[in-house]
Amino acid sequence: MVDDQMIRHLLRGLPVFADELPIFDVDDAPASPVALFMVWLKAAIEAGVPEPHAMTLSTADVAGRPSSRVLICKDVDADGRWYFATNSASRKGRELSANGHAALNFYWPRQGRQIRVRGPVQTTGPERSGADFLARSPSSRAEALVGRQSEILADPGELATAVAEAQARLADAPGLVAKDWTLYAVSAEEVEFWQADRERCHIRLQYVRADASWARHRLWP
Ligand SMILES: Cc1cc2nc3c(=O)[nH]c(=O)nc-3n(C[C@H](O)[C@H](O)[C@H](O)COP(=O)(O)O)c2cc1C
Repeated sequence: MVDDQMIRHLLRGLPVFADELPIFDVDDAPASPVALFMVWLKAAIEAGVPEPHAMTLSTADVAGRPSSRVLICKDVDADGRWYFATNSASRKGRELSANGHAALNFYWPRQGRQIRVRGPVQTTGPERSGADFLARSPSSRAEALVGRQSEILADPGELATAVAEAQARLADAPGLVAKDWTLYAVSAEEVEFWQADRERCHIRLQYVRADASWARHRLWP
């Protein structure tokens, strides 16, 4: 039986935000959110933030019902595009073809930082998607070749058989690319950098795309 009082007690007793938080000098922020993302990413790596390249991707179906999951960020380019790769037949892939807008969120608890990205999503074409697939480890290529991501798995034994078959196909044809493997890009229209403050005066800096440049605003916490 679920003891909901205990869950509440456990949750409310948990601390939030590290004792030592980095300084975010908004006046010193670069003109481009990509430059600031690089500064924060390097700081996260140096601080030993686990998996700083893991981000939550939120999509919505055609009726506007949202869903989210964690993915790896594959690249960020100077034009403000954040990249991820997945199976286009998965739930998120289907949602993106019905509603081509998405949001990303990075959360780095050791530093009390989150970065939010929002914008339309494009596929990058077979060449770049294929290159992403071929750069994956052998086990991730086999998993991706199996496909069927997000379908109901009625018999777990089927998965082991399908993975073994995919491994054999890859051994025969190492240049094989899974047909639905897709590198996507979120073209940021908004990027927000959020820095926690122990006194709760959290700092929020939002970049909004304005033609070829970016407008910057502070937001109320
Ligand atoms: C740290 C982490 C990294 C992940 N990276 C990816 C990824 O790069 N691509 C991917 O398709 N799924 C990745 N997943 C699995 C997804 O979270 C998700 O379960 C899967 O893509 C199916 O999502 P969907 O049913 O909403 O389409 C990752 C999960 C975790 C926890």
